[in-house]
Amino acid sequence: MARLRVGVLISGRGSNLQALIEACRDPAYPAEIALVISSRASAPGLGLAEAAGIPAAVVAHREQDAFAAEADELLHKQRVAFVCLAGFMRVLAASFVEAWHDRMVNIHPSLLPAFRGLHTQRRALAAGVRFSGCTVHFVRPELDCGPIIGQAVVPVHPGDDEEHLTARILAVEHRLYPVALRLIAEGRVRVVGNKVEIDGWRAPKFAALNPQDE
Ligand code: GRF
Repeated sequence: MARLRVGVLISGRGSNLQALIEACRDPAYPAEIALVISSRASAPGLGLAEAAGIPAAVVAHREQDAFAAEADELLHKQRVAFVCLAGFMRVLAASFVEAWHDRMVNIHPSLLPAFRGLHTQRRALAAGVRFSGCTVHFVRPELDCGPIIGQAVVPVHPGDDEEHLTARILAVEHRLYPVALRLIAEGRVRVVGNKVEIDGWRAPKFAALNPQDE
């Protein structure tokens, strides 16, 4: 079976990119990364792409339409069929979001629809939530909205600070994103209205409680 050709858009560190690169190393994984685009020339993630032998480009236009036009051209040149945003820090032109409708996903470090936008972990701590986590969702013009494919949950621990909570969430981001992309590449993910249906979906058996009794 042909592997889904994926473009990954980054702006920085690229640890989610690295998680996807590692997943794609398995010949049985149904997707491959055909191109990495960074909105910043200094993004460390570019080095990860290079180390993995993946074509990479910098598209640094500040202006949304100019970014969209150049990124779109590069993606098409590399015959990219699906886009993953991974720490991509620019707001995309509506035309780009429309062009990749249901063919572009993002990972966000909160249990959406809670805590859209920036500083999610700080705001989650300030709100006193007992669980946080991350979400992989299809991209829509409105920020951090769009049909949800999957979520991973982590507990908030007593005494947590932003750094600890961020690290705990990031660890599950690296597990969730490859799972979500695999389901998509296997053709098991369907958008129905504002929700996602997944063929053969299994959910965990047990609920988690925080605080626990013992
Ligand atoms: C991640 O927390 C992701 O959820 C958010 O930005 C961060 C990017 O980290 N959108 P990295 O560049 O993938 O390491």
